[in-house]
Amino acid sequence: MRIAVIGGDGTGPEVVAEGLKVLKAVSDRVGFEYTTKDFDFSGERYLKAGGNPDEPSIPVIHDHEIAELRTYDAMYLGAVGHPKVAPGILEKGVLLRLRFELDQYINLRPVKLYPGVYTPLKDKKPEDIDFVVVRENTEGIYTGMGGVQYKGTAAEVSTQINCTTRFGAERAIRYAFEVCRRRNNPKKMLTLVHKTNVLTFVGGTWYRAFMEIGQEYPDIKKDYNHVDACCMWFVKNPEYYDVIVTDNIFGDIITDLAAIIQGGLGVAAGGNINPEGVSMFEPMGGSAPKYTGKNVINPIAAIASLGMLLRETGNNKGDLRLVDAGNRVEAAVMATTPKMQTQAAGKMGFSTTEVGDIVAAAVAEAK
Ligand code: IPM
Ligand code: MN
Repeated sequence: MRIAVIGGDGTGPEVVAEGLKVLKAVSDRVGFEYTTKDFDFSGERYLKAGGNPDEPSIPVIHDHEIAELRTYDAMYLGAVGHPKVAPGILEKGVLLRLRFELDQYINLRPVKLYPGVYTPLKDKKPEDIDFVVVRENTEGIYTGMGGVQYKGTAAEVSTQINCTTRFGAERAIRYAFEVCRRRNNPKKMLTLVHKTNVLTFVGGTWYRAFMEIGQEYPDIKKDYNHVDACCMWFVKNPEYYDVIVTDNIFGDIITDLAAIIQGGLGVAAGGNINPEGVSMFEPMGGSAPKYTGKNVINPIAAIASLGMLLRETGNNKGDLRLVDAGNRVEAAVMATTPKMQTQAAGKMGFSTTEVGDIVAAAVAEAK
């Protein structure tokens, strides 16, 4: 397996180093070969190359680099965001560009409260918070369609078009049904989350696709929530959910709410997946400039995303050793979280590298 490693900015390289430590441990344990190559797509490189900090002026990633990435089996990303580069330049230049160009049309976000992790939801336990969000990752209002006219005047007009295709909705829905089937949770329920009562055009496309494709999955219960109501249920009854499928912007918003109920950005992991191509796995946390270089940032999310990288690459290639390796990483994470004081940077009771050592040792010692 060849893995492209993009440490990125701030604390990204620090947490990725811990994930790679655990990768080494699990490859020794399970017995598979891998190589890694570092790609420097940082804000630092952009600035050094003469990039304008206030507006995009040169590419953050070069075309030949994108072409090279297509040849890898998986990508492992640390963090995007530099305090000296205006918001949007790196997010669009790295994260969104890779999602679009590599057609990573699924954003997969497991939401699981690990043992010993604090949730702000009163009386909710690990068995109550365990679901998966499948977010469509290449359409909706993220495509950049629309524009602004008479900018800066009282007559300013702007549009941002929700580009929804039956093709895009359908492939996300199909993927989500498959995730639900594979999870095989007793609930066996896929919930479509949208806003069909107001977004009648794009919502209709999603709803019709969901109901039609659902007929191919008679074993799975079909469920629908409006996105606003879904936010309430996340807080009141998270145990209701098994798998959710939703569009890009709704998925963006509800997965931040989901991240905080599973313990916050220190633990939340995700994958940008192209089931027919190269997928990219990342911790949800940002580059955390104020913690950079201090060995205090929480690497659990990055290690969990490394586990996802192994499991999803394995699922995709039908390689059971990699699936086993991914499950072992998650089990080691779950053996580590109860030992930590909190999941907050600087308050873990351990340093970044110590947490990585504990997870790696748990991987090595497991039966
Ligand atoms: C995420 C992030 C990105 C998004 C930003 C950084 C462009 O919030 O991965 O959820 O909006 O998709
Ligand atoms: Mn987001």
